[in-house]
Amino acid sequence: MAVPVGNARRRGRFSVQCTCACPNAGDLILPVELETRIYGRGILSEISNLGADIMERLDQMAGISESGEHLTRRCYTREHRRISDLTAKWMRVAGMEVREDAVGNVIGRYDGRTPRAPAIVLGSHLDTVVRAGRYDGALGMLAAIDCVRSLNERGIRFDDAIEVAGFADEEGVRFQSAFLGSRGMAGSFDGDLLERRDENGISLAEAMTTFGLDPSRICDAARRPEDVRCYLEVHIEQGPVLEIEGLSVCAVTAIAGAVRMTVTVTGTAGHAGTVPMNARRDALAAASECVLLIEDTAKRHSQSVATVGRMSASPGTTNVIPGTTSFSVDVRASVDDVRRAAVKEMQQRMADVAARRNVKISVEKSHDVNGVTCSSWIVEEIAGAMEDLGHRPFLLPSGAGHDAAAMAGIADVGMIFVRCSGGISHCPEEEITREDAIAGSNLLLRTVERIGGYRN
Ligand code: GLV
Ligand code: MN
Ligand code: MN
Repeated sequence: MAVPVGNARRRGRFSVQCTCACPNAGDLILPVELETRIYGRGILSEISNLGADIMERLDQMAGISESGEHLTRRCYTREHRRISDLTAKWMRVAGMEVREDAVGNVIGRYDGRTPRAPAIVLGSHLDTVVRAGRYDGALGMLAAIDCVRSLNERGIRFDDAIEVAGFADEEGVRFQSAFLGSRGMAGSFDGDLLERRDENGISLAEAMTTFGLDPSRICDAARRPEDVRCYLEVHIEQGPVLEIEGLSVCAVTAIAGAVRMTVTVTGTAGHAGTVPMNARRDALAAASECVLLIEDTAKRHSQSVATVGRMSASPGTTNVIPGTTSFSVDVRASVDDVRRAAVKEMQQRMADVAARRNVKISVEKSHDVNGVTCSSWIVEEIAGAMEDLGHRPFLLPSGAGHDAAAMAGIADVGMIFVRCSGGISHCPEEEITREDAIAGSNLLLRTVERIGGYRN
């Protein structure tokens, strides 16, 4: 006897199941007041205590770091193993069956009412940038786990299963290619990356093997589109708009595409005191000119941004002219044609620098993803959930990359942004409030309930 509740009763969407051992165990008719409490405005957290300890658990996650001084947690490290274990423990407590997939994602599953049902996948990433903030990725993980915890505590199951994915790598800082985890799940992992080496000369294949994975089995991580109903992710905004608008949460409309490149400039090393200025082939001076032209090009292609975040010169000594210099370039724009045109112009202008300065400049693209539009039906559900919970519906595009962009290859995707202080992110000053973290978790839960309910 399944009894749909509230709006669900009209749509026959889902049941609330009694979890006690009484003869009626299975299904439960809720009194009207409780229906109102569950489906009324902004009060889900009263029932499940949703997110009550979220800041403490975010602190626990931030304590797992490669450095004692700041938060750095790159993929396939010992710290990745520790965060996976902690996440798996929380998933089990929340009521999920947990496994690690072939690319190292931790996946918790909360079954639907029908066996092997497609899953509403929730998630975010477990890795961080170097000297990271503590909420990028971690907030989305905890919001997703708490969502299942709340459903489990109340004995609610949908026709769809719910899965929570803790993606192995989103930031791409170790191997200079982002979304390794979500691309594995989406079946778009680029096998050529396995040969890429980190700054210590360890290849991605070696790092995965040390982590306990078999790189030849990565394709086993791929999910079939028919097994994924949709993908939802909560994330800090990483920009200032919500704070300016005085809002704690919003729905995301699109995720900007991005290109990452490694540029290597080769000149001639030489004595700093003896080689006349006009006879030099200084790789660092040429690279510096490239950095400025990259900045200038991004400024002139409106809505594109470009960043050189890393540079190293060799031999890196005070009294030696640099013979080689390499640096990273990250170019973003929500309009793919704008980004492509900007990258093309950067490459042409760097070729001019190479000719004028008589150096060699080579460019290797390590990451190239197009922008992604969030599915309109999910945006509508999130906006509806915002109304249910008393938030002013508000929409924003994302300038940052997210696992949702990779998951869009196999599923409809949607995202919820949570306000962060001053819009500051990717650094230790990243800050959010407990209230906003709870608001984001509640909004995810409400959205999942709406989506789960619409199944029938
Ligand atoms: C990920 O955080 C990115 O946008 O680089
Ligand atoms: Mn990030
Ligand atoms: Mn992130």
